[in-house]
Amino acid sequence: MDIRTGFIVLFCFMGFTCAEPVKFADCGSSSGKVSTVDISPCATQPCQLHRGESYSVNVTFNSAVLSQTSKAVVHGIIAGVPIPFPIPIEDGCKSGIQCPIQKQQKYHYVNLLPVKSEYPAIKLVVEWELRDDNKEDLFCIRFPVQIVS
Ligand SMILES: *[C@@H]1O[C@H](CO)[C@@H](O)[C@H](O)[C@H]1NC(C)=O
Repeated sequence: MDIRTGFIVLFCFMGFTCAEPVKFADCGSSSGKVSTVDISPCATQPCQLHRGESYSVNVTFNSAVLSQTSKAVVHGIIAGVPIPFPIPIEDGCKSGIQCPIQKQQKYHYVNLLPVKSEYPAIKLVVEWELRDDNKEDLFCIRFPVQIVS
């Protein structure tokens, strides 16, 4: 671990917000456009997710549509197979977004990603979608993570 990473990790342990923009792939945001994805704490990439802890996910995006509702759908892709990944709050309108979602407006979607202690310690890709009224994706992002004990 280099000194910079060491400081970031130390900051995270001390309870500071240490959101780092993560590299992500867009998987078809048809009714919006993503600008940044922050995961906290995530000192190294791919993010190392410890079992039994929760991580905050903050997706900044612009909406291209008007939508009354928004619903998050999360999958863990393991060896190419998408497996549903339950999150406590599916309603995007209760995750930092004020609904109805307006056209051409910027939003910060903020939610928690709980990593259960029974998850295996493997590398996987998280796919996070936020669907609008028509089940089109306001955003669809993919980012790699590593589950560690
Ligand atoms: C989410 O990220 C944006 C852009 O990086 C930032 O301005 C905003 O304060 C963050 N929101 C939270 C709740 O962390």
